[in-house]
Order: sequence, then C-alpha cells, then structure tokens
Amino acid sequence: MSKITSVTHGRPLIIGGGRMGMALAEGWAKNGIDRARITIIEPDSVRREYIASQHFSVAPSLAELSQTPFDVTLLAIKPQNLPELAPQLGAFLVGKPGHLLLSILAGTRLAQLAAIAPQAAIVRAMPNTPALIGHGITACIASATCSPSLRMNATELLAAVGDVVWLGDEAQMDAATALSGSGPAYVYYFLECLIEAGIAQGLPAEVARHLALATLTGSGILATEAKESLAELRRNVTSPGGTTQAALEVLMHPASGLAPLVAATLDAAARRATELAHS
Ligand SMILES: NC(=O)c1ccc[n+]([C@@H]2O[C@H](COP(=O)([O-])OP(=O)(O)OC[C@H]3O[C@@H](n4cnc5c(N)ncnc54)[C@H](OP(=O)(O)O)[C@@H]3O)[C@@H](O)[C@H]2O)c1
Repeated sequence: MSKITSVTHGRPLIIGGGRMGMALAEGWAKNGIDRARITIIEPDSVRREYIASQHFSVAPSLAELSQTPFDVTLLAIKPQNLPELAPQLGAFLVGKPGHLLLSILAGTRLAQLAAIAPQAAIVRAMPNTPALIGHGITACIASATCSPSLRMNATELLAAVGDVVWLGDEAQMDAATALSGSGPAYVYYFLECLIEAGIAQGLPAEVARHLALATLTGSGILATEAKESLAELRRNVTSPGGTTQAALEVLMHPASGLAPLVAATLDAAARRATELAHS
C-alpha cells in the first residue's frame, strides 16, 4: 500500500462508524491521513466514545458539520438507514459540485444516490470483510459525473483496505456482490465442511482446523503468486490413480460435484442482490 495523496488538503468524512466505516478509517490512517482529519458520524454514543478513543474526529450527525470543508464522503451506514439520512445528506452536498460520494451500501444503485446528491461525483463500491484486516477486495463503478481524477482518488482510498476492481457496467455489481461480497461466507463454510470431514476421518479437531486453514491460506498465496493456471496447479497435486484423483472424481462430478452447486450458490446470491436493489 502507498500513501494516500488525494486527500491532503480537504478532509474525508465517514457516515457510519460501524465495522466497514472503521475499517476504512483505520486503512486511511495507516496510509498517511492524520486521524484527527478523518471525521466519523455515528449516532450511537457508546460507539462515538470508542471512535474518539481511537483519535478520530467524531460527531453525532451531519448537522454539526455544515461549516467544515470536506472533499470526500464515505457512506457506510446500513442500506435501510438511507431513507432517514437522505434529506440531510442531500442538503449537506448541495453546492459542492465535484464532491466525491463513495458508497459501500449493498444494493443501493448509482441512480438512487444521484437522486439524493445530484451534484456529487458518485462511486458505488462493494468491499468484503477481509477489508477489516487490509486484505479485502472492492468492486466498484462510477457515475458519469465522476471524472477520471476522482476515480483515481476513489481507487486510492479503497486500496487502503485491499485490492480494487472497476466494473464495466453497474449490472455486474450484483454478480460481484455474489462472488466477492458474499464470498468470504462460502470460504468459511467450505472450511467448516473440510474440518468436519477431517474430524470424521479421525483427526483431532484442533489438528483438522490447523490443516484446513493452513491449506487454504497456502493455496491462496500460491495461486496468487504462481505463473501456472489454477487448472495446472490442481493437476500438479493430482498423480494418476492417487488420492487426489479419487477425491476429485467426487468433487468434479458433472451432476453432483461442486461446479453446479457453486453456480447455483452465486445465482441465488445475485438474484437476491437484484431483488434488494429494486425493492
Ligand atoms: N459487512 C460486510 O461484509 C459488507 C460488505 C460490503 C458492503 N457492506 C456494506 O457496508 C455498509 C455498512 O456495513 P457494516 O457491516 O459496517 O454495518 P454496521 O457495523 O451496522 O455499521 C453501520 C453504522 O452506521 C451507523 N448509522 C446508522 N444510521 C446512521 C445515520 N443516519 N447516520 C450516521 N450513522 C448511522 C450505525 O449506527 P447504529 O449502530 O447506532 O445504528 C452503525 O454504526 C452496509 O451498507 C453494508 O451493506 C458490508
């Protein structure tokens, strides 16, 4: 990660000091933005105390901040809280053309955000939970009003918590949500299954957990760093007539194996994302 250079003069504002909002705040602080310059709006007083203890600036609502010059606002509330915030947010962003509104709200489309803040340059982003430790991946899409330089600013801000991928079309956001937004849950469940199966084969629980987690981490790093394709890496583990081949005959069965199950899994998630975006 490199130092954030796009927010050196103005100030970043985060609306919603929950898990994701705080993950981004920590990422920005680690990448060179002074903690006191990052303002976090959080209605919960206990949470506000915690945020202040981490040396960020904090306020209970936007009303207290009308005079402060912000140049980027990260929207990190739950989507269901947007209707109550919308009038205040719209008023806050009036007369601020070129203000970057960065939204991580699941299922909330660019058009909905543009209706609230018509003058803002909007980026809709979908991070995932490994962002909490700086290893996330964020899929994003920008409004037509977002200039290339503001897109670069958004990339830099989101890169503070992991990789960033720009999508070509907002319609792809539901698929990205299904793959990488929800993806950590699939991986954790696969690990749970692997551990349970290892225990059923006679391993002590802690040993099964250690073997499964280290296998996932090591394979992920190898897949990221290796020049070979995933299929080649798989074939490297698979001696003809060996144990892996016996396993893959089950896992890669065209009808009952993993591929149709994963396709159905992503299909269910993408359909739900589409439903939520239009509800
Ligand atoms: N977690 C994920 O894996 C993930 C991945 C991608 C995207 N997202 C998106 O990220 C967003 C935040 O998720 P999260 O997991 O960080 O949720 P969270 O922990 O519940 O954080 C949301 C925070 O916003 C605060 N808030 C609610 N209404 C507000 C308002 N009007 N003004 C200011 N702050 C307000 C909440 O305070 P109270 O607790 O007092 O209500 C809470 O602290 C969601 O839209 C979610 O779809 C999450």
